[in-house]
This record gives sequence, structure tokens and C-alpha cells, in this order.
Amino acid sequence: MATEQVVLKKIDGHVATLTINRPDKLNALNIATRGRLVEELDDLAANDDIRVVIVTGAGEKSFIAGADIAEFEGRSPVEQFRVMTDSSVFLAVDQFPKPIIAAINGFCLGGGCELALACDIRIASEKAKLGQPEINLGLLPGGGGTQRLPRLVGMGAALKMLYTGDFIRADEAHRIGLVDEVVPPDQLQARVKELADTIASKSPVALRLIKQAVRTSMRTSLDEGLKQEVTLFSLAFASEDKEEGVDAFLNKRQPTFTGR
Ligand code: COA
Repeated sequence: MATEQVVLKKIDGHVATLTINRPDKLNALNIATRGRLVEELDDLAANDDIRVVIVTGAGEKSFIAGADIAEFEGRSPVEQFRVMTDSSVFLAVDQFPKPIIAAINGFCLGGGCELALACDIRIASEKAKLGQPEINLGLLPGGGGTQRLPRLVGMGAALKMLYTGDFIRADEAHRIGLVDEVVPPDQLQARVKELADTIASKSPVALRLIKQAVRTSMRTSLDEGLKQEVTLFSLAFASEDKEEGVDAFLNKRQPTFTGR
């Protein structure tokens, strides 16, 4: 399969959907797929028409079943280090400046779970199964799973998943806070698009500032984070969107945000 087809892009209004397209390999992330995803995210970050991005997997069965295990065979530590540091798809998702939602349509394992963890919001199909099974390969997560998972679900729930490698069902993932919503499989794409459209109707300036402030909260002290929030709040006062939002409220009309 040509590398440009391993990730499909669909644009509908202000929302772009990226679909990992290796269903015969349960959408496992090989090097070509990671590279293509990073390129697509770079393009979407620079495209002012796009306000929200959805990431999902092709087919009925899988979101992403992890890194492509076939590529691990015989790989040297130096090669592995280069693969992980030359260009990280997990960092590209984490640092993507606009809201990004994972639509988890099936197996969400290993690097797939880590990619979902790097997204802002996770919506899962009732059929989804999530896990970090690297332990079964004599490995550990390398895409942020040991760091983002405990921050999201707490240390005990994270270590249980990481130590056992067991898959958990969507309802259990919801219970521990790993996913934010669970919906019937046939409603997943519509629900995620509805959520994306709602977010896309808000001020792109404020969305970007919210994302920056919240992401900062994961990496800094409360005092530093609160300081940054004040700065970003004040910065929002420089936007046309803030004028539009306030004027629309005072004049009892719907705002139209432009991202300026
Ligand atoms: N890397 C490479 N190939 C993978 C893969 C992965 N992470 N996950 C699945 N595949 C491939 C299988 O090798 C198989 O390919 P083949 O048809 O050429 O043999 C195809 O996808 C279908 O998978 P299969 O195992 O036959 O489906 P299943 O329904 O029996 O089992 C899983 C599904 C998810 C339980 C099983 O595929 C699995 O355990 N995958 C690995 C998950 C994992 O450990 N991920 C973390 C990697 S670090």
C-alpha cells in the first residue's frame, strides 16, 4: 500500500478526520503510518479552516492495535532510539495546537492507547477494548503510556493495566476515566462529529488558549499554572473573537467566531 493511503483525510466543515488505514493489520502503527500522521497533523495545524481534528481507525474491529510488532524484530537499540526520537507521533498529537479527539472504534492497544492518551478527548464504542499489553512482549510502553496513563487514571489503575497487560472493556475504561464517553458502535462517528462541530463553533483563539493552559497544568505547579492562566486570559482580550462573543451576548444573538 502506498504510504499516502495509510492515513485517510476527510474534511467536513471545520473538522478534519484522520483515519488510520491498515485494517488488515488492525491499524498497527508502522513507521510509514506514523510519518504520514505527523505530516497530516503539521498540515492541519497550519490550515486556518480546520478547527478540530478527529483520529479514528479504519474497519469495524480496531482503532489502533499498537506499534507494528513485525518492525521490532531484529531492530537494534540505536535504530529504535532513532525511530522514537527523529519524529514522534505522540508528541505531534500532544503538541497539536487545536482540539483533537480520539474516536475509539475497537482495539485500542499499546501505542494506540498511547496515541489516544495524547489526544484531548476520548470517545469509545461499546465494543472497544483498551490495554497496554507491552508487558507480554517483554517491553514497556514507549509512547508516553507510563506517564500519561497514571496522570489520567491514577497510579493504581495504571499499574494494574501496565503490569497485567489485560484488555479492559469500554465501560471499565469509562469508569476509571480513561475514556470520556461510551456510545453504541453505530453511533460513534456521528457522536464524535457532533462533539467536534460543537467545539468548532467556538472561538478558535480561546480554544487554543484553553488547550495551552490545561496542557500546562499537567507539567507545572499550581501557582505557575494559575499565573499562566491569567496571562492567557488577558491575551484573549486582544482577540476579535472576544469582542464578538461579548457583543453577541449583550445583544442577545449568536456569535460568529473567526479565529482572529
Ligand atoms: N503489530 C503488527 N501486526 C499486528 C498487530 C500489531 N500490533 N496487531 C495485530 N496485527 C496483525 C496480526 O498479526 C494479523 O496479521 P496477519 O493476518 O497477517 O496474521 C492481523 O493483524 C489480525 O490480527 P489477529 O491477531 O489475527 O486478530 P485477532 O482478532 O485474533 O486478535 C488482537 C486481535 C488485538 C488480540 C491481537 O492481534 C493482538 O494481540 N495484537 C497485538 C497487540 C499488542 O500487543 N499491541 C502492543 C504492541 S507494542
